[in-house]
Amino acid sequence: MAGLCLRDAVHRLGSAAAPFVYASFVGSLDGRIALRDPQAGTSHLPVEITSGNDFRLFLELQAQADCLITHGGYLRDLAAGRLDDVLQIGTQDAGRDLGRWRQENGLAPQPAVVIASASLDFPIPDSLARASQRVLIATGRQAPPDRVEALRARGYPVVVAGDGASVEGAPLVRELGALGFRSLYLLAGPRMLSTMLRDGVLSRLYLTVAHRLLGGESFHTMTEGPGLGDAGRLRLSSLHYDSAAPDGAGQWFARFEPQRPA
Ligand SMILES: NC(=O)c1ccc[n+]([C@@H]2O[C@H](COP(=O)([O-])OP(=O)(O)OC[C@H]3O[C@@H](n4cnc5c(N)ncnc54)[C@H](OP(=O)(O)O)[C@@H]3O)[C@@H](O)[C@H]2O)c1
Repeated sequence: MAGLCLRDAVHRLGSAAAPFVYASFVGSLDGRIALRDPQAGTSHLPVEITSGNDFRLFLELQAQADCLITHGGYLRDLAAGRLDDVLQIGTQDAGRDLGRWRQENGLAPQPAVVIASASLDFPIPDSLARASQRVLIATGRQAPPDRVEALRARGYPVVVAGDGASVEGAPLVRELGALGFRSLYLLAGPRMLSTMLRDGVLSRLYLTVAHRLLGGESFHTMTEGPGLGDAGRLRLSSLHYDSAAPDGAGQWFARFEPQRPA
């Protein structure tokens, strides 16, 4: 499967006026993307639905981004040691070649990182400064003003995208396009995917479906908030089948494009 997502060349599909916005998820046949532990207040990606092939494709997608859009929740999980740091290209064994791939394809050594947050209560990992990555913060107009000022005082540009506390998809994409970013990868979760779909600015969704049912009473799925209506209509544009992983169960690698109204 290595090379499957690099061949899509998503880094060439966007423009400053219309950045290419893409996301990827891995889930089970019953639609779980993470299982929750309500008592501990934590969630985790079950190993039963992960595979080496899926991780490689994730790294290939990330390597094609001018800009990664992550969020405050991920940085809190990172600081607590619950998740690995995947904010740099070429640092994982499965993707050592991807730093050179970026260089050969005219991309900056590392993508910029946008941190979306309503609370603005997150630590900024040292890895971003070590890798000389450009860091921007995105929030809504109702965000705590003292935290906005504190972040600006530390030298982080704060993009206000949305009239509430949360970041909205369309103004964020417009602002990032104006800053010259053409390929925006959502290294985020259900809230960010939902706002991008609702605002009609998602360009593509990559979805790995592991062929097993997870069950469980408390879980996350790919979307959240009010019903998506027609914004949730997608068209399959590519499908690959891997019969071996994870753990012999099999998995589909699917690629979908949102269906815009005629
Ligand atoms: N299987 C997969 O492919 C996959 C993919 C993604 C996530 N997951 C997992 O699914 C679970 C839920 O995902 P998640 O943590 O990403 O949940 P989420 O509810 O989408 O996002 C959580 C945090 O991100 C910030 N955020 C997200 N969207 C925002 C927006 N539009 N505006 C402002 N802030 C925003 C908020 O931070 P503040 O509190 O700082 O305001 C929020 O608390 C996690 O366990 C995650 O690891 C799995």
